[in-house]
Amino acid sequence: MPLSQRSTLTQFLIEERRRFPDASGDFNALILDVALACKAIARSVAFGALGNVLGNHGGGDSVNVQGETQKKLDVISNEMFLRANEWGGHLAGMASEEMDGPYNIPRQFPRGKYLLVFDPLDGSSNIDVNVSVGSVFSILRAPQAVIDSGRDVTAEDFLQPGAQQMAAGYALYGPTTMMVLTVGTGVHGFTLDPNLGEFKLTHHNIQVPPDTQEFAINASNSRFWEAPVKRYVDECLAGRSGPRGKDFNMRWIASMVAEAHRILMRGGVFLYPRDTKDATKPGRLRLLYEANPIAMVMEQAGGRASTGRAPVLGVQPTGLHQRIGLVFGSRHEVERIERYHAEPVAVKDDTPLFAERSLFRDCVA
Ligand code: F6P
Repeated sequence: MPLSQRSTLTQFLIEERRRFPDASGDFNALILDVALACKAIARSVAFGALGNVLGNHGGGDSVNVQGETQKKLDVISNEMFLRANEWGGHLAGMASEEMDGPYNIPRQFPRGKYLLVFDPLDGSSNIDVNVSVGSVFSILRAPQAVIDSGRDVTAEDFLQPGAQQMAAGYALYGPTTMMVLTVGTGVHGFTLDPNLGEFKLTHHNIQVPPDTQEFAINASNSRFWEAPVKRYVDECLAGRSGPRGKDFNMRWIASMVAEAHRILMRGGVFLYPRDTKDATKPGRLRLLYEANPIAMVMEQAGGRASTGRAPVLGVQPTGLHQRIGLVFGSRHEVERIERYHAEPVAVKDDTPLFAERSLFRDCVA
């Protein structure tokens, strides 16, 4: 289709809004502010070493609330999200991976009815090696008491199950910059046209294939996996001669956004499950600004997202930076993994994963 015939993100949002005559336009304006932040981040990422944006923030001494070293681009991207979204009057508050507590809208700006939660730059370990990174965001409605009073937000205001998200999505800074968005009516992908500086609708109503032969997991953690995950991966590795009767392929980019995008485009399953590595961390990824938005995107695209035991979108959050086990992607595969968690299984140490000739034999402690 010639570029001129494609709708821009703005046109798409206006057309969506026509179906809701009472909508004020705040929601659309908020999404466009998020898109602006993503465009600004895309420019910084694209300049890389030329823009003096690579490396660690503060000479490597700066850590975020998760105890992770902050990259310069983590901090820059966080600022871009704050500046693009604080002024418009649509938000009651924001929360980010890079900030300990909620961000209150400065008093010189009007306050609105939405909450924005984001990971400004996901997959930071890939920034310095020029591999795709992304931003993930989730939009919630602020509690009515916050809207009515205009009071400062607290962490508790954000602790809403993912099923209550009004919109969610991500921007992927890869060979092209894309924004993938759901406002609860399917999932649509927009590619940044560098000539116009506009996101244009290129992927309408994306559907995740229900079946797959591709899985993504950080296999270096295999000795910490719980039995159902070991069983699942063993069966994939056993390939055609195993219980699945087909060969599987494996991918691991270590950028969840890039992984989610691959799965949206061609199917697959991603696992960062709960494991026994660190008893204080019930999973690696964060519920509010990683698992929930990706779960909404997956479910809206006909895929599935689970903790392994239950749908992610039903989980009642207990903390702003809470971690959780996450499995998402092709529906039948995620359902199989949930089944394995529900069934008691005996896993022996001579399963293929740990067998003498296994790929991962040396990982056994
Ligand atoms: O912080 C999240 C993240 O960078 C994800 O984007 C990615 O999937 C994961 O961590 C990578 O984890 P690991 O370094 O254990 O492979």
